[in-house]
Amino acid sequence: MKVLAIESSCDETGVAVYSDTEGLVVNKLYTQIALHREYGGVVPELASRDHIRKAIPLVREAMDSAGLTPKDIDAVAYTAGPGLIGALLVGAAVGRSLAFAWGCPAVPVHHMEGHLLAPMLEEKKPHYPFLALLVSGGHTMIVKVARPGSYKVMGQSIDDAAGEAFDKTAKLLGIPYPGGPGVSALAERGHRGKYVFPRPMTDRPGYDFSFSGLKTAAATAVEQAGDGLTDEAKADIAFGFEDAVIDTLITKVSRALKAEHLKELVVAGGVSANRHLRARIGEFMKKIGGEVFYPRPEFCTDNGAMIACAGMLRLKLGQVAGDAIEVRPRWALEDISVDRDE
Ligand code: KG4
Ligand code: ZN
Repeated sequence: MKVLAIESSCDETGVAVYSDTEGLVVNKLYTQIALHREYGGVVPELASRDHIRKAIPLVREAMDSAGLTPKDIDAVAYTAGPGLIGALLVGAAVGRSLAFAWGCPAVPVHHMEGHLLAPMLEEKKPHYPFLALLVSGGHTMIVKVARPGSYKVMGQSIDDAAGEAFDKTAKLLGIPYPGGPGVSALAERGHRGKYVFPRPMTDRPGYDFSFSGLKTAAATAVEQAGDGLTDEAKADIAFGFEDAVIDTLITKVSRALKAEHLKELVVAGGVSANRHLRARIGEFMKKIGGEVFYPRPEFCTDNGAMIACAGMLRLKLGQVAGDAIEVRPRWALEDISVDRDE
């Protein structure tokens, strides 16, 4: 079976086809980063208009380059939430309509389930049960995944998500949108110990995160540096910020792995592309005799492949959409858990 999927929840238009026997067949991505950069962040209305322009051409490009025709496609999946409502509506409308025209089911997909399953597109896959650390621009979550489709959210950000904190700190340091990769590159040249920022909520029990104070601490450091905000000082602040985020994530993940007696960890979402984070989590997992699984860097940030993979799972669970086109800009991951009623 083959699922064609459309991702349009934020500033990336993604189209992919996933087969349950062959794996990923084709993957196309168009990023709107250049469009939003001059505004310093995503402008929702511009995002919707650009998805409209790109969705059908990308579908055609994906189908043509893989030599596929509509009769090869068994279902059309689309990101139904969470995300920007206008942007989601584009992918949902195009996806639902294609499914209608092609006479196959439409499958609404939860964007974070897509991120969580992205490592399943790799050769080295995690085994159920495992723990997932999802770190994206909109969400930071620790999820226990008992079996396919079963999600227990153990903790999440109570304010800014990790990626959001990266983007806001980047702005303070004069790095263009999206700031995560820029902060990461700058931090490579920074020195440990020049700036030590708080590790929020690590002294409290539980698995929730709060990153807004960390961004404020970085803002204070920038302010205090004043005219002394040299490139070296910026790199040291970037290092201090990144190090604090990583330490905080590892503290909570360590606690959750221990509590659930789990040894396998998935790290996914845009921030999981961060090299320093990967190195530190790698060391930590080695120390505890566990194993960590990531998507390849291009599947850490938003893409159609992960939605196609999640779409296949939901299709097999028989969770197809009705004729109405519905999206959910806010949507708890637990709402789609297969054992939510247990
Ligand atoms: O998963 P994603 O593409 O979109 C959402 O679902 O939100 O994540 C985007 C976020 C942005 O905040 C971006 O700055 C961050 O991921 N990001 C990074 C890196 N690459 C992307 N943050 C830190 N280091 C990176 N290398
Ligand atoms: Zn995402």
